[in-house]
Amino acid sequence: MPTVLESTPPPPPSPKGLEGVVATQSSICYVFGEEGRLIYRGYDIHDLAEHSTFEETAYLLLQGALPTRDQLKAFVVDLKAAQKLPKVVQRVIKDAPLTASPMNVLRTAVSASVFVDPDKGDDSAAAESRKAVRLIAQLPTLIASFHRLRNGQKPLTPRRGLNLAANFLYMISGVVPDAAAAQALDVALILHADHELNASTFAARVIAATLADMHGAVTGALAALAGPLHGGANAEVMKMLLEIGTPNRAEAWVRAALAQKEKIMGFGHRVYRTEDPRAAHLRRMSEELGRKAGQPHWFAIQQIIEDVMRREKGLYCNVDFYSASTYYVMGIPLDLYTPIFAISRVSGWCAHVLEQHADNRLIRPRAEYVGPMNRTWIPPGRRG
Ligand SMILES: CC(C)(COP(=O)(O)OP(=O)(O)OC[C@H]1O[C@@H](n2cnc3c(N)ncnc32)[C@H](O)[C@@H]1OP(=O)(O)O)[C@@H](O)C(=O)NCCC(=O)NCCS
Repeated sequence: MPTVLESTPPPPPSPKGLEGVVATQSSICYVFGEEGRLIYRGYDIHDLAEHSTFEETAYLLLQGALPTRDQLKAFVVDLKAAQKLPKVVQRVIKDAPLTASPMNVLRTAVSASVFVDPDKGDDSAAAESRKAVRLIAQLPTLIASFHRLRNGQKPLTPRRGLNLAANFLYMISGVVPDAAAAQALDVALILHADHELNASTFAARVIAATLADMHGAVTGALAALAGPLHGGANAEVMKMLLEIGTPNRAEAWVRAALAQKEKIMGFGHRVYRTEDPRAAHLRRMSEELGRKAGQPHWFAIQQIIEDVMRREKGLYCNVDFYSASTYYVMGIPLDLYTPIFAISRVSGWCAHVLEQHADNRLIRPRAEYVGPMNRTWIPPGRRG
C-alpha cells in the first residue's frame, strides 16, 4: 500500500508558524528584525512617537502620506462626527453580560455595526475609507460604554475638544485626563497602530482577500488580537507583576517560572532579534508615570525581570511589557489593555484591508499532508 500521495508531489514543508515567509508586498509598515527598527510608510517609529499624534498617524497609515494641516483638520472632523454609536450597537453592548470580556463585546459589537453602516454593501475604496473612519472613531466609544455599563454607570458621550486618546480616558472615568496621561496614551496608540504582518493583520488580510467586507476583516482581526500570544499579552504581564508584588521577589519568581518552562509574558518576538523599538518609549513612560503615581515598584520589578530574561534567555521585552505598567498606573483596568491595543491597531487593519482590496488575490496556501492514506470505509459495527 502506498503511504504517500502518488499523483502530485507534496509541496515542500513550510516553516512552522510561517516563520520567515514573505506572504505579500506592502507599502504600509516594515519591521527590521535584526536592527530593531520599525517604519510606518517610510517614517521611523521614533520620529512619529516624538512628533506625531495618533490621528495624524492613522491618516498616514490609511492614506500613505502625512496630512497637510487642512487634511488633518478634515480627518479629525470626520472622526468626531462618527464617534457616537448607532442604536443597534448600543443595544448589543447593553445586552452583553456584565461579566463579559471587553474584547468579546468589542468583537461582537463591531460585527453588529455593519447592520447599519451607511456604506454597507459598497466595497469601493471610497466607501471602505469611510468605514475605516467610523471604525477608528467608534472603537473607543464602544469599549468605554461597555465599561461604564458594567460598573452601573451611564455611558458618556464623547466630549468636544479632546483628541481620541484623551476622549477615551474621559469616557471610561468621567474625568478629563491630565496632559501627561493623555500624552502617554496618545504615544502608546501611535506605537501600536501597525506592525506589518502580525497575526491579527494577517487574519484581516486573509479575510479581506476573499472580498469579504471591512467589518468582517476587522471582526476576525479582533478575535486574533485577543489571544495571549498576541495582544492579550499586556494584561498577562500585569497579572504577573501583581503576583510578584515586590522587587525582592522578582528574580526568584522569574527563575522558578523559567525552570518550569513557562513563558514570561511580554518577552520574545517572532521578528525582532534585538529590542523592540516601541519598548523604549513605553519603558520611559512607565518609569515616569509610575514615579508620579507613587507606584515606582512596578517599574523596579520589571527592570529585574528584563535583566534576568536577557541574561538567562537572551530575550528582550516587546511592546506589551511596559505598556502593562503604564496603563496600570494610569488607573486603567487590566481587561481594557487589549481593547486599547485594538483602538490603535484598527487603523493598521483598515489600511491593510484597503491595500489588499486595491490589488487583490485570494490568499490560499497549501498544507503538507502528513495524515493516513488509502483507508477503506467500514460500517460502524465493524470499527474499533
Ligand atoms: C511572541 C512569541 C509568541 C513569538 O513566538 P515564536 O516566534 O513562535 O517563538 P517560540 O515560542 O517558538 O520561542 C522560541 C524559543 O524562545 C523561548 N521563548 C520565546 N518567548 C519566550 C518567553 N516569553 N518566555 C520564555 N521563553 C520564551 C521559547 O520557549 C523557545 O525556546 P526553545 O527553543 O528552547 O523551546 C513568543 O515569544 C511568546 O510567546 N512570547 C510571550 C507572549 C507575548 O509577549 N506576546 C506578545 C508578542 S508582541
